[in-house]
Parts: sequence; structure tokens; C-alpha cells
Amino acid sequence: EEFDRVLGGGLMPGSVVLIGGDPGIGKSTLVLQAAAKINGKIIYVSGEESVNQINLRAKRLNINSENISILTETDLDVIINAIEKHEPDVVIIDSIQTIYKPDLENTAGTVTQIRECTAELMQTAKKKKCSVIIVGHVTKDGMIAGPKVLEHIVDAVLQFEGERSYSYRILRSQKNRFGSTNEIGIFEMHEDGLQEVKNPSEIFLSEREKEISGSVITSSIEGTRPILLEVQALVTPSVYGNPQRVATGFDYRRLSILLAVLEKRANLKLSSHNVFLNIAGGIRIEEPAVDLAVCCAIASSYTNRFAKNNTVVIGEVGLGGEVRSVSNIEKRIQEAFKLGFKSVIVPNNNYKSLNIKNSIEIIPVENIISALKQVLNP
Ligand code: TYD
Ligand code: MG
Repeated sequence: EEFDRVLGGGLMPGSVVLIGGDPGIGKSTLVLQAAAKINGKIIYVSGEESVNQINLRAKRLNINSENISILTETDLDVIINAIEKHEPDVVIIDSIQTIYKPDLENTAGTVTQIRECTAELMQTAKKKKCSVIIVGHVTKDGMIAGPKVLEHIVDAVLQFEGERSYSYRILRSQKNRFGSTNEIGIFEMHEDGLQEVKNPSEIFLSEREKEISGSVITSSIEGTRPILLEVQALVTPSVYGNPQRVATGFDYRRLSILLAVLEKRANLKLSSHNVFLNIAGGIRIEEPAVDLAVCCAIASSYTNRFAKNNTVVIGEVGLGGEVRSVSNIEKRIQEAFKLGFKSVIVPNNNYKSLNIKNSIEIIPVENIISALKQVLNP
């Protein structure tokens, strides 16, 4: 279900989907598990692992599907022949970096090879009406040139990501000709494979320490779903003059801007402090609606005051320290209510047009000073 949603309702016949992600993140596991659920004939082409290795993984995942044929091959001509001959419904290429077209001089994994192989697979997919799932190793910021050049060729680009040290994995749609982008699917890696996470908010909040400074809950819209997340900040005096700033799961430049706003508009002397910011659970957020929670978490740690328990903080922060309105405010508030939070801090401009009928207390704020007053315990 998670995979289908990210694809925009399932795998379209004849479509070519690129799944990128760091090595070891779980791409092969994901495609194999997905393959086992597909009702149709599948060829799983592996250029990286032996049949034996794939069988071992399949055993671990409890997959015993007659529909999946394994082809350990890196020569594109052989692969195309197999597709033409067997006419599968779905072909999985794991990974595109290992496949080569023999009549090109470049070695496998080079930009030319990757692009040419994909283009040819694309043609075959359209001709044979079979879907092709292409796995590609990409670093987080898409630095490896290869798969990046494919974005314009393929129908959909999905990124599989997560912090290695956490078990959560997020499948994010970056481009999708057949559905909305920014949709995400959440999984958890277990001993026996990936499991879907149906109630992300509960899970992301489950390890939260309640009475601790620097911890603030916010609501982020990921794709079409609201997810409650814990923002954690640790602010310590910088002894050696050159303060450190580390952001995990949050944009570094955005953090720098928010620190400057806090310094100038809320008078916090952060330039002489180290600031470490973390989005708990290993998820990455790009949404400006979490700005205010980030500011509150930093101020909470800096002043050593807890943020109010049972409060969710929502709002974008402008350079003037003003709290700006965000999209989907009702959805975010509903999620907070659903998970038992008692109050929610929202931008004043959102508040004016709110139409919510439940018992959660809604507190409007106009700027970070008034937000900090509301959020931080005395
Ligand atoms: P893998 O799918 O091979 O990653 P990728 O294809 O992206 O390189 O999976 C990598 C990791 O996942 C590996 O370190 C082992 C772990 N794993 C599990 O924890 N449980 C499982 O059931 C499987 C198959 C793998
Ligand atoms: Mg793999």
C-alpha cells in the first residue's frame, strides 16, 4: 500500500520507475518484496548478486513466488532479448550501474552507459507494455552523476532514504508522471524485511522523553499525510570561539537563518553557542511549517526551560521574526488532536480562517516572541 501510494496508485503498465538510494538502505529488499505482491510475470535482473544470494534473501523475506524469474546478467542485449522472448509484466533491474550495452566503449556505470541502457529499456517497456523498475545507487544529495541524468528520461523517480542507524525507511516520490510528487511511504526494516508503517506519528513520538529541554513537537505534511515529529535541539556554550552547527534531518542553511532570526528578534545570544538540531526518528523534513518548532526547541534548550507538554507547534518563521501561515492547517491540527495533544500553537493568520470543531485548544501567535511565551514553561 505504501509503495502503491508513492507511485500514485500503483505501477502503471509500460512505465519506467527509478528507485534511488544509498547502498545498503534496502532497495533490493523493497523491490523483491514488491515483486512478490505483484500479480503477474516478473523478471528480476540482478547484476550485483548471485542466484544463491537472492534466494537467501527471498527465504529471509518468506517469499516463495512462482511468478518471479531471476536473471543474473549485466549485458543489456541479453536482458532485452529475455524481455522480448518471455514478455514479462514487470522487469526489475538491480542495479542500473552494473548493466552495460556491449556496443558502447564506456564501462558499466558511466553516465553514457546508464543513459543509453535506460533509454533502451524505456523503448522496450513502451513497446512490450511491461513496467520496468530500475534500481540505482544514489547518494543523499544525488551527487552520483549517473541516476541524476535519468530523471528526465524515466516516468517516476523515487528516493529510498533513511538514517542507517535507524530502522525507518522512507520512500519519497521526486518526480511522477502519474501521481503527485512529495508523496511518501514509510517502512520499518525488520529481520524479515520491510514492514509498512501505518501510524507514523505514534511511532515517531514513541521514544520521546517528556520533561526535557530542547524537545518540541510539530506537525509536518509529508505528501498528503500529516505526521507529528519531535524536533530536538541541544544548545551549549561554545568554548573555542567557533561555534558548531549541526543539523540532522533539517536543512543546514535554514537552520542558520532561524538562528539569525532568534538572535536578532528574540535576543538569544546564539552566536556564542553550539547548536545541534535533530529531527527524531531519522526522518528528513523540508517544510517551512516546522520553523517555529525548530526555533522553540532551540530557545528551550538555550534557556533550559521545558516546552509545554501536550502542545504541538506549527508555523513558518519570517526574517522579521513574524510567524507566517502554513498550508493544510486543519489536517495538522486534527492529527495533533487524534494523538491526544491538548493544545496547538498556530500562526495568527491561519487562526482567523480556522473552522475546527474539536476540543483541542488552539493558540494563535503573531511572532516568535509571543510563541516562545506560550510554548516555554516559566
Ligand atoms: P539491501 O536491500 O541489500 O540494500 P540495497 O539494495 O539498497 O543495497 O538491504 C541492505 C540491508 O538491509 C542489509 O544491511 C541487511 C538489511 N536487511 C534487514 O535488516 N532485514 C532483511 O530482511 C533484509 C533482507 C535486509
Ligand atoms: Mg541491492
